[in-house]
Amino acid sequence: MSQIEIKKIFKAINASDGAGVKLKRSIGTPEVDYIDPFLMLDEFGSENKDDYVAGFPPHPHRGIETVTYMLNGEFEHKDSTGAKGTMAPGDVQWMKTGRGIIHSEMPAMAGGKLLGFQLWINMPAKLKKNKPEYIYIKSNELGVHSDSEKIVKVIAGKYENAEGPEKNHNVEPIYFHVVLNENKEFSFAAPAGHNSFIYLLKGELKIGEKKHEKTTDSNLILLERGDKLTVKATRKSEFLFIAGKPIGEPIARGGPFVMNTKAEILEAIQDYNNGTFAKY
Ligand code: CO
Repeated sequence: MSQIEIKKIFKAINASDGAGVKLKRSIGTPEVDYIDPFLMLDEFGSENKDDYVAGFPPHPHRGIETVTYMLNGEFEHKDSTGAKGTMAPGDVQWMKTGRGIIHSEMPAMAGGKLLGFQLWINMPAKLKKNKPEYIYIKSNELGVHSDSEKIVKVIAGKYENAEGPEKNHNVEPIYFHVVLNENKEFSFAAPAGHNSFIYLLKGELKIGEKKHEKTTDSNLILLERGDKLTVKATRKSEFLFIAGKPIGEPIARGGPFVMNTKAEILEAIQDYNNGTFAKY
């Protein structure tokens, strides 16, 4: 077993998206363009409704999967496949956009605290033209491991006997939400070929065996390859551990579209402009 150590620690940057929703972006930034197969990670949240009330009005996506995980608050979503619903705390919406989807995500709350994450996972060329697929995971459908030291909610992958509902996925994703008590340890045997990172929501962590700089809230902690992850909470901490098998294909970005070439981005823009985008 080889110990996983920290490669580099990044502070999430303040950004806004949709109709001006304030968020903290840590992947898809000038410093961290992507961590193959992950293209973007946003922490969206505020206690001030002015920061989120305008929401994310209708917009398109192509070539990616978006995984939205709500921790506080409620969002109402609608998309061009006809799917609609309200996301409540603890729910996950896993959308495989394939060749194209148009959706909106609007707050279904007049005030109060909003907190959630959106992760973008790249799709390989062979899946980018698929029909959109849409998976809705209610909070009580997540795998949960709980003991006196920690709680591990499993959105994807397997921890002890807790297994996430998203299976047989091409990048074999692992997505854990971990709450770890002070001075306790979380360890995990990770697949050696996966790229992985930790997003520290709050607290302070000691990762691996080597000395490293102090971690703090809203840090993206990029990890080296290895197969033995050891995380100790210096104080009570809450973090995401996310890993996936790299796709290794060229990446061409055009806002909400991620394809392999610039020509395919132009094609997506044309399809959107001439109304053939979300026709299946
Ligand atoms: Co979207």
